[in-house]
Amino acid sequence: MFPSPIETERLLLRRPMLSDASDIYNNYASNPRVTRYLCWPTHRSVSDSERFLRQLSDAVAREEQFSWTIVERDSRWLCGMIGVSINSARATIGYCLAEEVWGTGYASEATAAIVPLLWQRPEIKRLEANCHSKHLRSARVLEKVGLRYIGIDREHSVLPALGPARQDMLRYGITRPKGMLVKED
Ligand SMILES: CC(C)(COP(=O)(O)OP(=O)(O)OC[C@H]1O[C@@H](n2cnc3c(N)ncnc32)[C@H](O)[C@@H]1OP(=O)(O)O)[C@@H](O)C(=O)NCCC(=O)NCCS
Repeated sequence: MFPSPIETERLLLRRPMLSDASDIYNNYASNPRVTRYLCWPTHRSVSDSERFLRQLSDAVAREEQFSWTIVERDSRWLCGMIGVSINSARATIGYCLAEEVWGTGYASEATAAIVPLLWQRPEIKRLEANCHSKHLRSARVLEKVGLRYIGIDREHSVLPALGPARQDMLRYGITRPKGMLVKED
């Protein structure tokens, strides 16, 4: 569906495997500071990470989603994940990184590698992303890779770490750039 592995200057983006579960759990998914603004709860055990990987694999098989683990090229340390959900003409991107590598520019580097791949798919006309209204670090990543602020969706999403109330989310998006038009049959 999408290429894998992908190499960037400092990162290797590759398809997740079930054997990544313990690295995912230990390196980021068990950290409540990482999951604070995510739509999934902090993993309590490696089996949560295994379950997540199985669900992801099913979604990939249905061509609804595609994800890459983010691995440091030098150290081979699995430091996060980036993924896109596809819903007809719209792709939604999301990412998460281990706390140890926040502020390194990895999120921007990984996202910038994925965005052009989306435009190679003629059916994708628009790329979107959401982040919590207080998550300015993530908003900054989206701006750095070219997404534009669309608006605020009030009481839009439940984020498990923040309780049952729906949270205000910032919506970012970009339509297929003109130079990237793909000829359709
Ligand atoms: C969001 C996340 C991916 C950002 O990763 P990162 O590696 O820190 O991102 P980058 O280093 O590429 O860029 C962060 C940018 O935000 C800026 N920033 C950092 N803290 C900030 C803050 N409190 N307010 C505003 N901007 C901030 C940085 O200066 C940097 O911008 P710059 O390059 O212009 O200086 C990472 O913090 C993370 O994985 N968090 C946990 C999971 C998560 O929340 N995922 C996103 C859900 S929407």
